Amino acid sequence: MAVSNSKSASLAIASVSLFMVLVMFGPIAVEARAFFVFGDSLVDSGNNNYLVTTARADSPPYGIDFPTRRPTGRFSNGLNIPDLISEAIGIEEPPLPYLSPELRGRRILNGANFASAGIGILNDTGFQFINIIRMYQQLDYFQQYQQRVSRLIGKPQTQRLVSQSVVLVTVGGNDFVNNYFLVPYSARSRQYALPDYVRLLISEFKKILTRLSSLGVSRVIVTGAGPLGCAPAELARSSSSNGRCSAELERAASLYDTQLLQMITELNRKIGKNVFIAANTNQMQNDFLTTPRRYGFITSKVACCGQGPYNGMGLCTIISNLCPDRDSYVFWDAFHPTEKANRMIVRHILTGTTKYMNPMNLSSALAL
Ligand SMILES: *[C@@H]1O[C@H](CO)[C@@H](O)[C@H](O)[C@H]1NC(C)=O
Ligand SMILES: *[C@@H]1O[C@H](CO)[C@@H](O)[C@H](O)[C@H]1NC(C)=O
Repeated sequence: MAVSNSKSASLAIASVSLFMVLVMFGPIAVEARAFFVFGDSLVDSGNNNYLVTTARADSPPYGIDFPTRRPTGRFSNGLNIPDLISEAIGIEEPPLPYLSPELRGRRILNGANFASAGIGILNDTGFQFINIIRMYQQLDYFQQYQQRVSRLIGKPQTQRLVSQSVVLVTVGGNDFVNNYFLVPYSARSRQYALPDYVRLLISEFKKILTRLSSLGVSRVIVTGAGPLGCAPAELARSSSSNGRCSAELERAASLYDTQLLQMITELNRKIGKNVFIAANTNQMQNDFLTTPRRYGFITSKVACCGQGPYNGMGLCTIISNLCPDRDSYVFWDAFHPTEKANRMIVRHILTGTTKYMNPMNLSSALAL
């Protein structure tokens, strides 16, 4: 017994040191894919916890169904979209927030999450949240990340890790709800008619995606606007409309999604490769917004956590109304889906037809 114990102990030590050598000197097996996330609260996994901002989800009941049952900064009752994509593509752990002090050593090779709640495509979006990481800064951080990883495993391996990685970009919703439509007669709505504003967003977003592709990534999922007009926050805001989605925001989302798809098609053509994949999250969620019961939800209009009409007013806090069964709700708070709804969205991202994913779903992209 003693002999075989010490034998396995020395084997373990040998494999640990072999592992250290590989990590420190390469070549590492980059077969374990890295995952990078950019965008807003739909995909922020806790960067804003480290910032002076009001856009945060680091107190209960956020995280009530997370494995630890504690808030983490994710805007969900449980797992968010990046967690579920990580799970689906077999990544060891979901990428840590870039600002987390735990993002070091070997864990940095898993990728990183640069998203920050409240941000938009435009720099002036989310100005009321004060200190948040805007898109250009998320990309600056991505460059900094690559320098840090290069020091660990060398430049060629870093380039390989980045080019083999999966990237998720979720941004744009706040450019409507926290900018153009934030208040009646907002500065942006006085400056631009809606179709012109959408054109501005798409042209700025194109610059952001072009820069991202120049940083060496080759597999980027870009989500659309989502069902902006049907969020409980919007139903509460116009409670006179009897639970009908806001027509104005629906129109905004539809203009945006159409132009986003065109822009992405054009970018791919210019690059000569299908680097970017458009995920029509509006279409995905329409299914369960129109027939929630068919998907196991009791409601798609009322938020699980909140107060006021549709439970869609104000913030989700410890004194809000909280539903007992989160899996029966599409919306966790006034804006963000429950883990259950996130799972359905991620299933479409992975295996959806071209009704949802263009030019292909993630499982086809991973097979390339
Ligand atoms: C946002 O700010 C950065 C840094 O100042 C700048 O490089 C970028 O062009 C700005 N973007 C827009 C859309 O104004
Ligand atoms: C993914 O997309 C491809 C191409 O549209 C399609 O043929 C396939 O059925 C989809 N699902 C899976 C699991 O690949």
